[in-house]
This record gives sequence, C-alpha cells and structure tokens, in this order.
Amino acid sequence: MTRPSWAPEGIDLDRPSASRVYDFFVGGMHNFEIDRVLARQIESFTPNVAETMRANRDLLRRCVRHLVDAGITQFLDLGSGIPTVGNVHEVAQARDPEARVVYVDIDPVAVAHSRAILDGNAHATVVQADMARPETILADPEVTRLLDFERPVAVLLLGVLHFLPDDADPAGCVARLQEAVVPGSYVAITHATADGQPAEVLEAQKLSGRTSTEIVLRGKDEIAGFFGDWPLLEPGLVHLPLWRPEHPGDVGEHPETSGAYGGVARKA
Ligand SMILES: C[S@@+](CC[C@H](N)C(=O)[O-])C[C@H]1O[C@@H](n2cnc3c(N)ncnc32)[C@H](O)[C@@H]1O
Repeated sequence: MTRPSWAPEGIDLDRPSASRVYDFFVGGMHNFEIDRVLARQIESFTPNVAETMRANRDLLRRCVRHLVDAGITQFLDLGSGIPTVGNVHEVAQARDPEARVVYVDIDPVAVAHSRAILDGNAHATVVQADMARPETILADPEVTRLLDFERPVAVLLLGVLHFLPDDADPAGCVARLQEAVVPGSYVAITHATADGQPAEVLEAQKLSGRTSTEIVLRGKDEIAGFFGDWPLLEPGLVHLPLWRPEHPGDVGEHPETSGAYGGVARKA
C-alpha cells in the first residue's frame, strides 16, 4: 500500500501494529487497512476485546483527572500509543495547563504521531524507547528536561505491561521506575487478563502475535504483584470499569467481563 503523508518513512506497512490496532478500537484515525483487518478478526472472536480497550482509555481519563486533583503535575506515560481521542496531556492540561507529560513508546508510528500532535506544546514531549530498559528512559535528555524527579511523578503503565514477556522481567522494570521517584509519586497499571474471560479471548490473544508485540495475559495476583509494596488507592485492583467510575454508564451491566484489571498505587 502507499504510505499516507501522516505515516513516518521506513515503517512496515505490511504488518499490523499494536498501537494502530488500539487506535482503531478507541475510535482514532491513525490506522491502516492491515490494522483494521486484524482488529475485525479479533472482534469476531469476542466483542470483549474492543470493549476492554475502550474501558482502558476511559480509565486513563479518570485516573489522570484524579491524579491532577491530587496535586500531580508530572506524568511519565510508558507505552503511550497514539495520543488521539483524549489522551494524557489533553486531560491533564485541561485541568492544569502547566502539567508536564512525557510520552514513551516503542512504536515509530505512535512516536511520529505524538511529535506531530505535540508540536508547539512546551509542556509535553515524546521519546521512542523500550520500557524494558527503564534506566535508558530515566536518563533520556527529553525526560530529564521536562520532568523534575525531585518532585512527585505519576508513572503510567496503562495497557503496556502485558507486552512484556516474563523473560523481560516486567516486575523488575516497574520496581526500577518506582525506585527513581520520590514519595508522593504514583504508579498506575492496567493489564490484560484471561480471568473470567470466554475461551475465545485466548484465540484473540494469539492473533496479537501477528504484530511485533505479542500480549501476555496474567492473573490478578501476578498483576497486583507489579505494584510491589506500594499501597493501592481504593478500590484496589479491579476490573477496569470499576476503578472510580464517575457516572453509572461507566460501569455497565457486567464490569467483570472487562478483560483487564486496573489499579493505582502511591509511594508512601
Ligand atoms: C494498548 S496501547 C496503550 C496506549 C495507552 N497507554 C492507553 O492506555 O490508552 C499499548 C502501547 O504500548 C506500546 N508498547 C508495547 N511494547 C512496548 C515496549 N516494550 N516499550 C514501550 N512501548 C511499548 C505499543 O506500541 C502501544 O502503543
């Protein structure tokens, strides 16, 4: 296919990408036919997957609003995706125009879009990096230019840890990020699970192997372990729609069918 003007040069147009498939599911415009084909295949196995992705983006918005109201002015968003359709800087800066946001993603398409969208925004930037290498991210000049690690930072790991296989040591990666921030900082995690899911979800999960980033589904205890010894805010680690819903419509009739858990913890 021909490369559209918004897509960076050098990207593989014949392979679906996790960030563009997610963009399609949350109603964005930055995806190719090859991504939509995969998304429709996933959806044909189970509608839960699309609902879960939308519930994830909804939790992101509630979470960022909550953190800004709690006094957080700095966000390090790892696995940020394509920042359209209500993302961290829009939500945070709508409440606090001085809020600083650093997006980090491994996918060049997500990064190229982020750069275009953030052009002219002095308080937000993007870095292309692998979250399996937290030290590189923490030392990146763009990260240290915008974020002051002497003050609390919210580390967002929304919909990304399930892309790290066990041998990439996801728990160790989170722990190294937690060590780098001062008390009063937060970590927010959402993570896909097979808990309570129909068997078709496992079929849909296998399809993620067609992208360069296959998903690993984990159980609630293992996901809870990623927070280490940081206390979780109420209501704890819950199915996505149950994390601090703001309206009855946020919860829906069967929140337990959401194929992911979410939670937020604070460094004491
Ligand atoms: C499902 S999207 C989540 C987007 C956003 N965080 C949200 O919750 O709405 C996951 C993103 O993680 C990115 N990703 C996957 N593996 C990664 C890694 N090892 N390092 C950084 N980003 C990664 C993908 O490229 C994708 O853009």
